[in-house]
Amino acid sequence: MKKTLLFLAGAALLCATACKSELDKKIDGLVEQMTLEEKARLLVGTGNEGRWVSETSYGDMKNIVPGAAGTTCPIERLELPFIILSDGPAGVNIDSTRENEPGTYYCTHFPIGTLLSSTWNTQLVEHVGQSIGDEAIHYGVDVVLGPGMNIHRHPLNGRNFEYYSEDPLLTGKTAAAVIRGIQKNGVAACPKHFAANNQETNRMGNDVQVSQRALREIYLKGFELAVKEGHPKTLMTSYNKINGVSVSERRDLVTDFLRDECGFDGTVMTDWYGGDHPEDQIHAGNDLLMPGQQWQMDSIVNAVNAGRLDEKDVDASVKRLLKLIYESPRNQAGHTYDNTPDLKAHAEVTRQSATEGMVLLKNDGQALPIASGMKEIALFGCASYDFIAGGSGSGDVRRAYTVSMLEGLQNAGYSVDPLLAARYEDFVKQSIAANLEKVTARFADMVRIRPDEMPLTEQEIAAQVQRAEYAIITLGRTQGEYYDRKSSEFYLSDVERSLLVNVCRAFHAAGKKVAVVLNIGGVIETASWKELPDAILCAWQPGQEGGNSVADILSGKANPSGKLPMTWPVALSDDGATVNFPVDQTTENVSVASRRKDVGEKNVDFTRYDEGIYVGYRWYDTRAIEVSYPFGYGLSYTTFQYSDAKVARSGKNINISVNISNSGSVAGKEVVEVYVTAPGASMDKPAKELKAFAKTALLNPGKSEVVKMTLSVDDLSSYDEDSQQWIVEAGTYKIHIANSSRDIRLTETVEVK
Ligand code: GLC
Repeated sequence: MKKTLLFLAGAALLCATACKSELDKKIDGLVEQMTLEEKARLLVGTGNEGRWVSETSYGDMKNIVPGAAGTTCPIERLELPFIILSDGPAGVNIDSTRENEPGTYYCTHFPIGTLLSSTWNTQLVEHVGQSIGDEAIHYGVDVVLGPGMNIHRHPLNGRNFEYYSEDPLLTGKTAAAVIRGIQKNGVAACPKHFAANNQETNRMGNDVQVSQRALREIYLKGFELAVKEGHPKTLMTSYNKINGVSVSERRDLVTDFLRDECGFDGTVMTDWYGGDHPEDQIHAGNDLLMPGQQWQMDSIVNAVNAGRLDEKDVDASVKRLLKLIYESPRNQAGHTYDNTPDLKAHAEVTRQSATEGMVLLKNDGQALPIASGMKEIALFGCASYDFIAGGSGSGDVRRAYTVSMLEGLQNAGYSVDPLLAARYEDFVKQSIAANLEKVTARFADMVRIRPDEMPLTEQEIAAQVQRAEYAIITLGRTQGEYYDRKSSEFYLSDVERSLLVNVCRAFHAAGKKVAVVLNIGGVIETASWKELPDAILCAWQPGQEGGNSVADILSGKANPSGKLPMTWPVALSDDGATVNFPVDQTTENVSVASRRKDVGEKNVDFTRYDEGIYVGYRWYDTRAIEVSYPFGYGLSYTTFQYSDAKVARSGKNINISVNISNSGSVAGKEVVEVYVTAPGASMDKPAKELKAFAKTALLNPGKSEVVKMTLSVDDLSSYDEDSQQWIVEAGTYKIHIANSSRDIRLTETVEVK
């Protein structure tokens, strides 16, 4: 017996050595040669936008790709190269011009993350990711710092535009698709911010106090899916603490959960200036400290020399980072890049993909699409003329242009009163001029200031009724990194409300229709005014081709097929997280260097996730709270019939199929959602949970598709804190096949022993 074991151990060792790739052997050799200082140098970046370490044999690091978020540091003695890291989730975010260079380096501003998840179309999302990765390759970027994928815990979180959903399944599946797309080009993706970074207020110091069950089922679940189905080469930890300790310093999350349980095998980096104790971060398995500061390097060296940090931990991080560096595009033999991505082709990608993520919320009397033959449009609202492509901060993209609603409608052959257009454009220009120092600030510390809405007199509106056949009102909201939204931004302003009331009254009196377009990055209040217009289209912040994408829908060239990835509450106070969210609790988000002094302020220094797993529709549906628009809701210009639902067990799988037919008069795509209601006998469970979804192909009128989805019994489990296990309780499970979380079309049951 002993001999056999010895033989097996020897064989395993032999195989392990023999199985080591050439690269692994090279890396082992390098680590042998590296001094402790060189290892520490490698694990700490060269500063924000490459500013700290300037002169190297490769030149000034910040000039390699100007405007990129950071670089790793070359180790000249060993001819060890570097890589370039750049934002972001809506496109590559680098400087669009360079000193002493005539050319431009524009990147495509694709739709915001929330629009991508609103498509519920992972195939389309993967294609957008691939286009982002393609631009990265052409511009010499090796790591794209996206997707952003934190849970929409509360409507006012400033960065929700960059993230996907209140639901972990939709979040994880969308993120995995973006990751696969980006990485198809050989570029590394970097899902972020792991984990529970759900508010901007005091983001660098906030302590998230959350139960293990909510952590596992809601805040980690999306990352688990993204890692298992996307296989990202890098991942970014979050600024915040979880239950008292900075995430980037928690080995139980970064190594035990992420690596050992989920199988993540890439490089973990901090968020920029995140965390305070480099030795704890390296020990936790957070390999790379970005953007990198001198004191962090010194701290690693001192900690090893003082015996506070095992050099084995340093070596483990160095090996993972060397693998990333040597596998990165720029370090492949003969690699070159031309700085000329196909921006024209990508403009088409963003224009088309954006239409699939827009959500038709209301369409009474087929008000949309605009009747063919109608050409004269009364176009109201500042955002119509100053259209918002995306959010601000690191998730912005320095693009060549933004197509406004005016341009989009004109491109589609509609005509808008030039005098009205001039009024609005002048008003916007003056308003921006009054806030110039804020509007032009690129980075996170200044959300793009919106002009207030322009008031119109009844006479001016009456003149439009005479002239136009159809009225469109665009309501805009900006938001961005670094600030949470104010509650006032959730509601319409008085000027917006009176514009809406007056335009609807005047146009309806003349028998003419009114459509509202929402050019927003996050949920706003709708219950108090949604009865007024004939139609409401949520266009989100759809990227640089936004005006064209909206016009494609308004004209009927595209049939909207988006569904809401989050609940739209009647009032903020209805939301389960509101009492534990920093609503209008502004604090100066202190600079990255100095941390806010923890004074124990609720929702600022710490935030209690008392709602537990009851986030979003899990809260609203379990408590049967009225909502304005439910999770998963979205209309189409056509209608779909659900029939012939089948749910069958085979082993651990639950196979679901349903026939979807287009019973309307125009071609369209349907999103089929599968929710599960558990027996709830032994565990408290939400009323229902999304467990699968699929989008049909474009179905012509009368055509149908059998949509098939497969669940595993394990997908029905919940996390039991006592046993620290995932448990599937026995009993009868209801499988709802639905058009939205509150429009269940067919229900079947399945037994679990
Ligand atoms: C920012 C953001 C992060 C971004 C990084 C680099 O502070 O939190 O999402 O990728 O720093 O810009």
